Amino acid sequence: MNVPIKTPDEIDKMREAGRQAASVLEMLTPHVQAGVSTGKLDRLCHDYIVNELGSTPAPLDYHGFPKSICTSINRVVCHGIPDDAKQLKNGDIMNIDITVRTADGYHGDSSMMFVIGETIQGERLCRVTQECLYRSIALVKPGARLSELARAIQQHAEANGYSVVRDFCGHGIGAGFHEDPQVLHYDGYAPEADIALAAGMCFTIEPMINVGSHKTKVLRDGWTAVTRDKSLSAQWEHTLLVTESGVEVLTARGEEDLSFLER
Ligand code: MF3
Ligand code: CO
Ligand code: CO
Repeated sequence: MNVPIKTPDEIDKMREAGRQAASVLEMLTPHVQAGVSTGKLDRLCHDYIVNELGSTPAPLDYHGFPKSICTSINRVVCHGIPDDAKQLKNGDIMNIDITVRTADGYHGDSSMMFVIGETIQGERLCRVTQECLYRSIALVKPGARLSELARAIQQHAEANGYSVVRDFCGHGIGAGFHEDPQVLHYDGYAPEADIALAAGMCFTIEPMINVGSHKTKVLRDGWTAVTRDKSLSAQWEHTLLVTESGVEVLTARGEEDLSFLER
């Protein structure tokens, strides 16, 4: 496995890519409301990324993906396709996943959950899934092993009665959208894949957590991944840089409280 170490110049470009991805989610947040279609949200993001940021939405045409963002509602685990006919309704939970490729050619990848109206079960799932992400981010530093991050996620999810999706993982990121290493969110590493982190690595952590079974299937559109048992699924994602002292969250949003990382 060849895990790239970014040069200082590349790190600057990754910081910019991360800031841009975060800014898309910040821009979009006030528009995420009952009655809006996911197709409309896709167009808002597309136009913002192209016209305001001067960048490219990396999902568009990626292995044939038809839209610029992923919108994954309720039982959809990931890679949901925006659709003008799909309107948000009260009680829905939705992940929006944004990947920007800057004019410099570097990627920022981040996703977050939105709760539409009220859903006690949905809110709890979203909160625990974000805690899974945060607990794993807190462990990132040179020398830490990927399996330690995975175990932190799996333990917290299972302690809350949930399961961790195995069919999709996080990934290295840089000039490539998906680079080495694969970042599992459950304890399933082959020994040679369980690498030790080093300063200058960039990767995502993006746990998908289900209320029911971890099993997924892909719908006939070839993209939309859903829980087999139709239970709710949530996901949060950040792009990270390993630093000498720990971690930098390249896709941090203004509203986020990342003070748990201060040490
Ligand atoms: N952004 C997703 C990830 O976190 C990948 C989306 S690929 C797409 O890796 F083609 F579905 F957009
Ligand atoms: Co990703
Ligand atoms: Co993503």
